[in-house]
Amino acid sequence: MLLWSIDNSQSPGPSSGVIHALYPLARRCLFRLDPETAHNVSMAGLKFARKTGLLRPTSPAGNPVEVMGLKFPNRIGLAAGLDKCGDAIDALGALGFGFIEVGTITPRPQPGNPKPRLFRLVEHEAAINRMGFNNPGIEAGVDNVRKSRSFRGIVGFNIGKNKDTPNENAADDYLACLRQAYPVAGYIAVNLSSPNTPGLRELQGPEASARLLEKLKNAQAALAREHDRHVPLLFKVAPDLEETHIRELSRVFLEGGLEGLIATNTTLDRTSVSGHRHSGEVGGLSGRPLTSRSTEVIRAFAAELGGRVTIIGVGGISSPEEAMEKIHAGATLVQIYTSFIYQGPGIVQRIARSLNNNQPSAFAS
Ligand SMILES: Cc1cc2nc3c(=O)[nH]c(=O)nc-3n(C[C@H](O)[C@H](O)[C@H](O)COP(=O)(O)O)c2cc1C
Repeated sequence: MLLWSIDNSQSPGPSSGVIHALYPLARRCLFRLDPETAHNVSMAGLKFARKTGLLRPTSPAGNPVEVMGLKFPNRIGLAAGLDKCGDAIDALGALGFGFIEVGTITPRPQPGNPKPRLFRLVEHEAAINRMGFNNPGIEAGVDNVRKSRSFRGIVGFNIGKNKDTPNENAADDYLACLRQAYPVAGYIAVNLSSPNTPGLRELQGPEASARLLEKLKNAQAALAREHDRHVPLLFKVAPDLEETHIRELSRVFLEGGLEGLIATNTTLDRTSVSGHRHSGEVGGLSGRPLTSRSTEVIRAFAAELGGRVTIIGVGGISSPEEAMEKIHAGATLVQIYTSFIYQGPGIVQRIARSLNNNQPSAFAS
């Protein structure tokens, strides 16, 4: 990743011959390491390159888009989970993302699940993770975000509940994170869909999510008065939802005044990777096997929401064409994670350039 980063600073953009020449080498080295070590090495390299000036900020390619009262420099963002601590915003931002979602962050720090907890399924350009919200806690996360200097895009805060907080008290955790993150966040994403925190997805039930949304909207209104600034609320949902569930949730979102939806998180379904030696690992599957399912979920939500809730499309986007499919399905913005690991930073600018204001979402708000 360090190799990509240095190259990107000197000659940003996908057409750079150097990126293409160096990326396979960097990836070969990193993929010899276990996935979590490779992640840590890459992030350390990227931050070092940014701090020392080897990596200079790249202006985000693509056109700005205004949604939820926010001006995004382009339509491509980094999905939650890569920068869980919020301490790599300037480095990641230098690669051309229009927005970066930090977290998931919980009120108190927690170590996450025992290792190994991240697996590559290289043949499928996919990953399975059961990280379990390893994060430094909301206070440290907010401090880190305050220290970012050069990123000119939007910083979203993805918030969750601590593992040992029972679901009946989950709202308290989300409210605590909302209050602390509010002054520094561009938007707040409420994660109801990680498969790696026991019971979390139960909060996606229509009654549970309606109750939570009401509490969060009340707190948001009070915070908006206090800070004289409105920070939109988004819910992040799973791809493993039945049609009736999507309909019921859409009604809850419309009635509750939710501003945005992030669809989708990782899937529990293993059909398309069955037979792979890691397919039986517990956790959420991301990357190519998720592409069409997440697009279907976006399309189903878009049909119900009719443009009144902004959709951020995420799940298996590995090319500009797949990003455009998410836009055509009803997303206004898109995010990537797994393809960034497999293909390197060149994918950010490739997608950013391909999505512009001439091809708006069918349901863009
Ligand atoms: C290693 C890993 C960790 C993740 N951690 C989080 C997280 O903390 N919170 C969250 O909302 N999503 C998390 N995700 C899910 C991603 O944000 C994204 O929704 C999902 O991976 C689908 O996108 P992709 O196919 O482009 O990776 C994580 C994904 C991966 C691969």
